[in-house]
Amino acid sequence: MAILTLKNVGKVYNKRWVALSDLDFSIAEGEFVFLIGPSGAGKTTLLKLILAQETPDTGIIDVAGFSSSTLKHEEIPLLRRKLGVIFQDFKLLPDMTAWNNVAFALRVCGYPGKMVKTRTDELLAQVGLLHKSKSYPQELSGGESQRIAIARALVHSPVLLLADEPTGNLDTHATDEILQLLLDINRQGMAVLMATHDIELVERFGFRVLELQEGYLIGDRKGNSV
Ligand SMILES: Nc1ncnc2c1ncn2[C@@H]1O[C@H](COP(=O)(O)OP(=O)(O)O)[C@@H](O)[C@H]1O
Ligand SMILES: [Mg+2]
Repeated sequence: MAILTLKNVGKVYNKRWVALSDLDFSIAEGEFVFLIGPSGAGKTTLLKLILAQETPDTGIIDVAGFSSSTLKHEEIPLLRRKLGVIFQDFKLLPDMTAWNNVAFALRVCGYPGKMVKTRTDELLAQVGLLHKSKSYPQELSGGESQRIAIARALVHSPVLLLADEPTGNLDTHATDEILQLLLDINRQGMAVLMATHDIELVERFGFRVLELQEGYLIGDRKGNSV
């Protein structure tokens, strides 16, 4: 079963800047896929389309049971609860502890306090950072910050995690830790679409690779390991 399907998807910014053209591909439930391509190739635009932060100008995106052709504005929050997202710059709230950065994402959805506590503790344990609960983002390393961001992205147990260059600000050691964590989560069934321009990383892990160039999908290589 596909968790994500794009049919003939195109995106034009400001009526003249073609960011994406004719994208056709699917991602299966539980699949791990790298999205590569140079800066400006359209990686972030593609992730924004999947998140319904931008709308396609041509074609249809089916994701997690929602279709861009019929998606209503009020359904967007429901769609986003099926998706997790992480970024190169982590986007943690600087005035909140690590624990509250995760708990906040649950509180805004109106979950009861006891459930927020249990789930937040569980997620921080899953990313190995329960002992950093009381630390503020500026007291965390880059790798730790990204692990907190991953915990936050997992609050709704997403079916698909979108990662926009999540290791772009990290050294090799932290990069490997983040990849291992994403692999652990992927093994539990969550599909991952990870944009990166770290070709060495992509080759080392050997998953399927989608390659964008100037908005076109110019490659779809099957992975050589699991
Ligand atoms: N909001 C926007 N308005 C106009 N052009 C944009 C906007 N966002 C991105 N672009 C352009 O679309 C192209 C693809 O950008 P982007 O998706 O950010 O690529 P990548 O993430 O691969 O670096 C680039 O040429 C970029 O300048
Ligand atoms: Mg980008």
